[in-house]
Amino acid sequence: MIFKDDQLQIIDQTRLPAERVYITLSSKEESFDAIARLRVRGAPAIGIVAAYTMYIVARRSSDLPLSKMHSELDSAARYLQKSRPTAVNLSWAIRRMQAVYKTANHPDTATLIRSMRAEAVAIHEEDARACRAMGQVGAELIADDFNILTHCHTGSLATGGWGTALGVIYAAAEAGRRLHVYVDETRPLGQGGRLTFWELMQHNIPCTLITDSMAGSLMRAGRINLVLFGADRIARNGDVANKIGTYSVAALANMHAIPVYSVAPLSTIDADMKSGADIPIEQRSSKEVLQIYGYNDTLLDNASVYNPAFDITPAGLLSGIITEKGILGKPFDKSISKILNLK
Ligand code: MRU
Repeated sequence: MIFKDDQLQIIDQTRLPAERVYITLSSKEESFDAIARLRVRGAPAIGIVAAYTMYIVARRSSDLPLSKMHSELDSAARYLQKSRPTAVNLSWAIRRMQAVYKTANHPDTATLIRSMRAEAVAIHEEDARACRAMGQVGAELIADDFNILTHCHTGSLATGGWGTALGVIYAAAEAGRRLHVYVDETRPLGQGGRLTFWELMQHNIPCTLITDSMAGSLMRAGRINLVLFGADRIARNGDVANKIGTYSVAALANMHAIPVYSVAPLSTIDADMKSGADIPIEQRSSKEVLQIYGYNDTLLDNASVYNPAFDITPAGLLSGIITEKGILGKPFDKSISKILNLK
């Protein structure tokens, strides 16, 4: 994601890896569409796009009186919030942008617009720094000749920096560790095959693409030392909502006594969710599952397909949660309360 000369640009992730196409987002409708159609995806990236979009809405309402600008921003916040339900970074970033005009007194619209811009840039830069910090923290878990399994996408396309789980891998590689990554294809939309594998190859990180159902046999053969994935929302008890299939990977890893870590910035923890059962899980179109088989529209209309975009990995299956402030351990309700200063 690039914010330059006051323009917000993203790589259209739906076109990767075949084509690297940049699109400019210059209205709330364009951002909503980009998020809902997965042109931008990954929890922190969605939050950052929403933050810049709130600034863009403020800039586009510069002719309005201050109170009218506030209502424009409120309505943009409600609208953007509906673009996707599971990743909490979206509402977290929108709330931060709303705090700019709800809590501080701005004398005029020009000052408010400047503050909105500064807050959106801060959210972006903080995420990039958090990625670096998570990388340093998590790299300590990786020894020479480790084989790491990862699921979905967690790199620079999904964040404001070099990534969460992939950030850990980049940091370990940067520190000179010899490592190799097995990349789950991540059915049905193939974020692993399209995005993670593409990113790792660009960074010359040794990697092998597998289909999701191959992970268990690799574990059984003793060929996986560590499992790393991201998170879309983490409940107060440590349950993790992440891409569908994450739970299967974590359960299998536990069966084979392989350590499992979720890597996520603190902005992904939602203390309002007591457990994973409270987290809304996005249901997506049956077409996403069926498209590779070549069904025609008539057959598609009658097809019964279960297609949740995310699942919940119970906290008990995690060895820890890698954050920018260190590794959170069990019991997660205690470590999460402590790191977030919750009562
Ligand atoms: O549906 P997506 O592609 O937005 O889902 C993304 C994931 O589930 C990622 O694993 C998660 O957001 C981690 S982002 C660093």
